[in-house]
Amino acid sequence: MTSPSDGGPASRATATHPAGLPLGGRDRAGEETLPAPTGRPAIPLLEAVRADEEVVDLIEAADEFIEAQGYTEHGLRHATLVGRIAYNVLSHLDHEPRTAELAAVAGFLHDIGNVVSRAYHGQTGALLAYQALGRLGVPTRERAQVMAAVGNHEEQHGEAVSPVAAAVILADKSDVHRSRVRTNASIAEDIHDRVNYAVQSSFLRVDPEASTLTLELTIDTAVSQVLEYFEIFLERMIMCRRAARVLGCDFRITVNDTPVL
Ligand SMILES: [Fe+2]
Ligand SMILES: [Fe+2]
Repeated sequence: MTSPSDGGPASRATATHPAGLPLGGRDRAGEETLPAPTGRPAIPLLEAVRADEEVVDLIEAADEFIEAQGYTEHGLRHATLVGRIAYNVLSHLDHEPRTAELAAVAGFLHDIGNVVSRAYHGQTGALLAYQALGRLGVPTRERAQVMAAVGNHEEQHGEAVSPVAAAVILADKSDVHRSRVRTNASIAEDIHDRVNYAVQSSFLRVDPEASTLTLELTIDTAVSQVLEYFEIFLERMIMCRRAARVLGCDFRITVNDTPVL
């Protein structure tokens, strides 16, 4: 039997392990964890985008500006994790490989617009993504898929307008973890930092048989009460529920192994 932290093939639920397959997340050390046996699949278009110096420069600069405003980590680490989880979501729900690849790229690029401004970063990021993928020769219809997913990833302006957009929403909103909190963060005064810091591990799990997508969180309740998580993330969770429905799934959450949604 494999654990959520080391991944493993899909299986039915037992007393200690829920059914399904972990799609990815962060373990207690904040390290990216992806399911075996697939591990890190080759995603050629994602690798091409990750190798593009202009894209990397923009994401790194965006994270510097975001740090200056006191936000959690939004850099290459977050981008890569969201891209891989978005890919896994669609792969394990039997979408076309190319569609999953577009979700990976949209996930990787989703926060690039923070280089312009935090405000409307989905919309500015969509245009930057369209431009970057044009440079890499990606066809217009595929760039449109990525553009819509990037432009719709934030709860203020976003809707899960397609499976690609739904996968990016689920992957992005799942990445809450203490390793994203900056070292100079104010845990006591800032509820976002406190809630992120309280999350010791986070995994998104799919059960294709039961048609469920489950966000599994381990929260240190000595740092933040579970209620605080929902206080700041309720809108996100509603967005995830809608996104899961677009993929034909119910969205669930467990906190410290207890179902809460
Ligand atoms: Fe964002
Ligand atoms: Fe994000």
